[in-house]
Amino acid sequence: MSGPNTSFDPKQVASLNAEAVEAMVAAALAAIADAGDLSALKEVRLAHAGDRSPLALANREIGALPPAAKAEAGKRVGQARGAIKQALDARQVELETERDERVLVEEAVDVTLPYDRSARGARHPLTTLMERVADVFVAMGYEIAEGPEVEAEWVNFDALNVPPDHPARTMQDTFYVGSPDSGVVLRTQTSPIQIRAMLDRDLPVYVIAPGRVYRTDELDATHTPVFHQIEGLAVDRGITMGDLRGTLDHFAESMFGEGIRTRMRPSYFPFTEPSAEVDLECFVCRGESVGNPERPCRTCGSEGWIEWGGCGMVNPRVLQSVGIDPTVYRGFAFGMGVERTLMFRNGVSDMRDMVEGDVRFSLAFGVEA
Ligand code: DAH
Repeated sequence: MSGPNTSFDPKQVASLNAEAVEAMVAAALAAIADAGDLSALKEVRLAHAGDRSPLALANREIGALPPAAKAEAGKRVGQARGAIKQALDARQVELETERDERVLVEEAVDVTLPYDRSARGARHPLTTLMERVADVFVAMGYEIAEGPEVEAEWVNFDALNVPPDHPARTMQDTFYVGSPDSGVVLRTQTSPIQIRAMLDRDLPVYVIAPGRVYRTDELDATHTPVFHQIEGLAVDRGITMGDLRGTLDHFAESMFGEGIRTRMRPSYFPFTEPSAEVDLECFVCRGESVGNPERPCRTCGSEGWIEWGGCGMVNPRVLQSVGIDPTVYRGFAFGMGVERTLMFRNGVSDMRDMVEGDVRFSLAFGVEA
């Protein structure tokens, strides 16, 4: 045990006298009251209650006091530290409460605000229409066929029995890729997909082929250089024109309503023989506007029928061009313009609305998945 402290220097331990300790407490309490937020309070705690705070340093001096003074100084410092700790704790609670209240206000979620400020897109009605047509045919066992938009001239024309001097091949209608003798075109119709389907698949072939096609037309209310067609092809043993008719009637009913029928008018296409134009019974007036000036029909122009597309029995020369024996197999084919179909089905009067890409046009058809 060490003996009584004889080297006591009252000057050195001045920090332990009552005024000094009171001043430390006063300084600490003022700083605590001043601390505006929790991080400021943390610093105040370190400065006034930490290991290097004036009171902690003064506390170390107690050992240097004469025994008689120790108890009193110890009590004084202890009370001072207690008072500071209490004030710190009280301020801590206050500041935490303040922070919690502030966070509740600042981070509050206003559930009445619009939740989605970026505009939503919509699928194009041409896309959804083509998918709907494809679904009708897939349900009948058809497969979806595709082909390239940059197509060999032979596939787009020759194999389809379009002779080299046919007007459709001239620069007026066809976009040639590179020079006109490059042998490569932007496909002018979806019919070349017939050729590819027959070359790629085993017989029998039942395919539906929606696709984009190109022609050198100016863009106006009824023409566009880029448009869409939907092509159908069935090649099997014993196929007849009756099968074609029944298929088109089913197609018409599924798109335009029960009981809607088709009509065929003789026509000419190089790749079908015989060929026909397909008309659709007007799905609005169902023929009742014909010869009835009191009830005119805008959809069919009071004709009772709407021109829909082309069709026919696959020309034996086309079957031969892809190595199919026309004495064993026969086929039917048809092709419709998708824009045209959308125009009379949904009353779109200007084709430019379909190509301009304004989402407001598409949204009007509903946001179909
Ligand atoms: N490809 C023809 C056109 O663009 C439409 C067509 C007519 C397709 C008769 C066919 C068809 O499959 O049999 O005008």
